[in-house]
Amino acid sequence: MTSKQPLVRRIVIAFTLMTLVVSGGFSLGIVAIVHFIEEHLVTQEMNEELENILQKDLAQGLAPRLDDKTRLFASHMPGYEIPKSFIGLDEGFNEVVTDTEAYYVYIRDLPQQRYLLVQEQAEFEARENALFMTVFAGFLLSGLAAWLLGWLMARTIIAPLVRLAQQVRHRDQLLTLAPNLAPEYPADEVGHLAAAFDETLGQLRNSLERERFFTSDVSHELRTPLMVVASSAELLETSALDERQRRQVNRIKRATAEINDLVETFLLLARANTQPNPLDGNTTLEQVAREQAERWAPRFAEKGLTFDLNIEANSATALHAGFISTVMSNLLRNALHYTDSGVVRLLINANSFRVEDTGQGVPSAQQHEIFEPFVRGTEARGEGLGLGLSLVKRICAHQRWQVSMYSLPAGGSCFEVTVI
Ligand SMILES: Nc1ncnc2c1ncn2[C@@H]1O[C@H](COP(=O)(O)OP(=O)(O)OP(=O)(O)O)[C@@H](O)[C@H]1O
Ligand SMILES: [Mg+2]
Repeated sequence: MTSKQPLVRRIVIAFTLMTLVVSGGFSLGIVAIVHFIEEHLVTQEMNEELENILQKDLAQGLAPRLDDKTRLFASHMPGYEIPKSFIGLDEGFNEVVTDTEAYYVYIRDLPQQRYLLVQEQAEFEARENALFMTVFAGFLLSGLAAWLLGWLMARTIIAPLVRLAQQVRHRDQLLTLAPNLAPEYPADEVGHLAAAFDETLGQLRNSLERERFFTSDVSHELRTPLMVVASSAELLETSALDERQRRQVNRIKRATAEINDLVETFLLLARANTQPNPLDGNTTLEQVAREQAERWAPRFAEKGLTFDLNIEANSATALHAGFISTVMSNLLRNALHYTDSGVVRLLINANSFRVEDTGQGVPSAQQHEIFEPFVRGTEARGEGLGLGLSLVKRICAHQRWQVSMYSLPAGGSCFEVTVI
């Protein structure tokens, strides 16, 4: 499982945990050693003292000689009765600690006799406690110091990685200009990562360049044959033609004009830098709508559809003629294709326009997908590729316009484009 914690935090946690485990081990070791040494030293000392008392004092019939912190108790000596709190202890070394007092009790059992040597040890116990508190404070402090040090170290160690991540994140704006990153880093893992990124970016740059050149070359080269077709159609028009032939020539002319517009748009999209240039605007919504209405009205009429152009409001917002015409004509072409009877309306507002139809509409599950390239709905007809709406979407994204689609209550669909 991959941790979702930031890298710095993970390093700090690992560092702190490691230090806590090590210093915890040391602290426990210190406590254990203190206890071990205390028990052994005191046992040895009290054993010798009791031996002295037994041999040198009691054996001679003398009273035991004791310092003021030591007392002797015995099971069979009057005046030396064992206190209740010391009854039931085992032979050898014992430590008795109550709330207020602390004693070492050394017991020796002889046949029918039990001797207890008791030494007050409150002072030692206090020192021992102070030592344990110091060890515990050291343990906590080492944890804190580890956290701080870990944080400083982690920041220093991953600083180049953070810098690389920032540079990589801002690369998209610099796609064509950015210099390579690898020379800025030492030849370690981060350097290798930077080099790998440079290489991938280089490949991406090349393929983007190739794609852009392809589009612009194709668009550029199509212009000449298109001009030939257009001028030949115009020449044909001047010759004696019957009605049917004239209609065919008109269709050729219209198709040529459309291809011309598209070639223009593709060229513009291929050349486009990421920022739309506001100075490119050279037409208004109303103007384009009137041109498009003039172009499409005969085709709607041919198909027996009513076509309405409705200027609900107008504004002087300047728009790029090539882009806005392509968007509008694609939506009108779809309305024509996918409506069998009824009305197609082009409604113009101050900063938006709508194309409404009374066709089959698009099922709501498909409404999002139809803007993707090569996606055709269940209502698809004719030879389309499913590219019209994807082109609309790309132009809108490029121009920062909004495009949306919804179904109309009476059936049919509405495509809306907002141009600011
Ligand atoms: N006005 C509409 N009414 C109903 N369905 C539509 C309408 N406009 C688009 N669609 C659906 O969206 C799909 C995608 O449209 P798009 O314009 O992208 O491609 P196309 O028209 O199929 O082909 P192309 O535009 O490439 O000739 C269409 O196949 C159709 O199913
Ligand atoms: Mg289409």
